[in-house]
Amino acid sequence: MTTHEKGANEKSSSQGMNIFEVLKQDHEKVRYLFDKIEKGGKKERSSLQKLFTQIEEELQVHMEGEERFLYPALEQHDESRGKALEGYEEHQVAKTLIGTFSSLAVDDERWEAKLKVLNEVVEHHMQEEEREMFKMARALLKKDQVEQITAQFQQHKREGRRPSRGASVDG
Ligand SMILES: [Fe+2]
Ligand SMILES: [Fe+2]
Repeated sequence: MTTHEKGANEKSSSQGMNIFEVLKQDHEKVRYLFDKIEKGGKKERSSLQKLFTQIEEELQVHMEGEERFLYPALEQHDESRGKALEGYEEHQVAKTLIGTFSSLAVDDERWEAKLKVLNEVVEHHMQEEEREMFKMARALLKKDQVEQITAQFQQHKREGRRPSRGASVDG
């Protein structure tokens, strides 16, 4: 009766978390998915494609939320402005790379190579955020601003999780 699947269903205990914890949790989910897809090298194509779509959707909502709510706040401070600008650029690299997957079959040998590069780009970016940007932001942003950004980001994520068109096939 109770489903006890790990990973499948994130605990909605993101209540009470601040934006930095929420973003870190997103990062961990992306890491988990990359790990899963890289270990699934011999899996059938459809399941790799499905995992990739999950990574893509996860990253899209996450990056858009950062760009709409966190980065603009960091642009307001001289100390963090450069980091925010760098963040947009790194997102752009990731988005461009993601876009190139659509023209490539999942069993093309370049697919795996491309996935590795995407993982490296995204991992580098997430580490920079965690080690430098979020640290800076914690010091610079006021408590009520952090609360506001957290609420906006959470709302954005709820809206971004609308079921995708061409819904899943069960058989
Ligand atoms: Fe980011
Ligand atoms: Fe991030």
